[in-house]
Amino acid sequence: MAQAPTREDKFSFGLWTVGWQANDMFGPASRAPLDPVEAVHRLSDLGAWGITFHDDDLIPFGSADAERARHLKRFQGALDETGLVVPMVTTNLFSHPVFKDGGLTSNDRDVRRYALRKVLRNLDLAAELGASTFVLWGGREGSETDASKDVHAALDRYREGIDFLAQYVIDQGYGLRLALEPKPNEPRGDILLPTIGHALAFISTLDNHEIVGVNPEVGHEQMAGLNIVHGIGQALWQGKLFHIDLNGQRGPRFDQDLVFGHGDVLSSFFLVDLLEHGGYDGPRHFDYKPLRTENMDGVWASAEANMASYLLFAERARAFRADPEVQAALDAALVPELATPTLNEGETAADLLADRSAFEDFDPDKAAERGYGFIRLSQLALEHLTGAR
Ligand code: GCO
Ligand code: MN
Ligand code: MN
Repeated sequence: MAQAPTREDKFSFGLWTVGWQANDMFGPASRAPLDPVEAVHRLSDLGAWGITFHDDDLIPFGSADAERARHLKRFQGALDETGLVVPMVTTNLFSHPVFKDGGLTSNDRDVRRYALRKVLRNLDLAAELGASTFVLWGGREGSETDASKDVHAALDRYREGIDFLAQYVIDQGYGLRLALEPKPNEPRGDILLPTIGHALAFISTLDNHEIVGVNPEVGHEQMAGLNIVHGIGQALWQGKLFHIDLNGQRGPRFDQDLVFGHGDVLSSFFLVDLLEHGGYDGPRHFDYKPLRTENMDGVWASAEANMASYLLFAERARAFRADPEVQAALDAALVPELATPTLNEGETAADLLADRSAFEDFDPDKAAERGYGFIRLSQLALEHLTGAR
């Protein structure tokens, strides 16, 4: 049994996750709509700390002002009653057919201007609700045929849009940070900024790069066959991990959005180890879809399962790190030695060239005889993970 979650664990859920009615490509909804007020109460009862949403999850697209105000008031009431916070808000620029060729990078300029207006309005709301992160997932920013999209121009427009939105945040004094969410494909055949690496490189070209980071999703990197632990490691290294979407995925295939831990278990373990010990103190946000097979009891069980998985991995990671055998194995594998700079302080190329021990007297064949003992480390991790230790 995992320990029960508390607010200090900073677990948050998208309204669109527990609220997903399970309509897919091959069939209609298998569950009734979920009232956002009920979502807030149930998540709060389960020990969650925050709830996030797309504008359209809370306020149906096209609602009149009075209708919009009514939805917001009910939601705010539930937040006040429960103490749940809204750490992140995001805009839906992918559902309405107007965005079928994208929002910020649609070939149609009028659509791009409309998309900016939709985001501006939602930035105001995010600030009003006290959010600190604003996520942008460009699900429709992409193409199916390379004939249709001038990637150079699309990236120009993407940069123009993100810089404009970031400037608005700065000018309004909102204190929000923007987080781009990469995904390789689905719903578009190919999506722009498909991986963490693409997004980080793009961000470095922005005028307002200081307030723009990433919101990586576990399954999205795994859809591209990439290592999420390395991706998150680099985002942290660059000071750009502003938010994270935790879930599960089984290798390169459609976006499964499984419960966290129900995909690649070992990778989930090392990811939690990294988040807990690598200097990330932001929300632990779950972006998953309760299976279409589940009724509402199953939905709440799945919400609990995400948090329980995370806490189990965190507890197992602590045990792994505290084990003297693991520490000895890490030392034997020279893991700590990688933190030592390769060059001595102030060492020049001339100094290195003069160091015979680095080359002339270095015996590569002898050095190659060393075994690193990584299998032993990996097995120790597995044994801790499975509770065998
Ligand atoms: C996905 C995406 C979305 C986005 C969300 C935020 O699973 O395809 O992750 O869920 O995270 O829409 O904009
Ligand atoms: Mn996903
Ligand atoms: Mn996501």
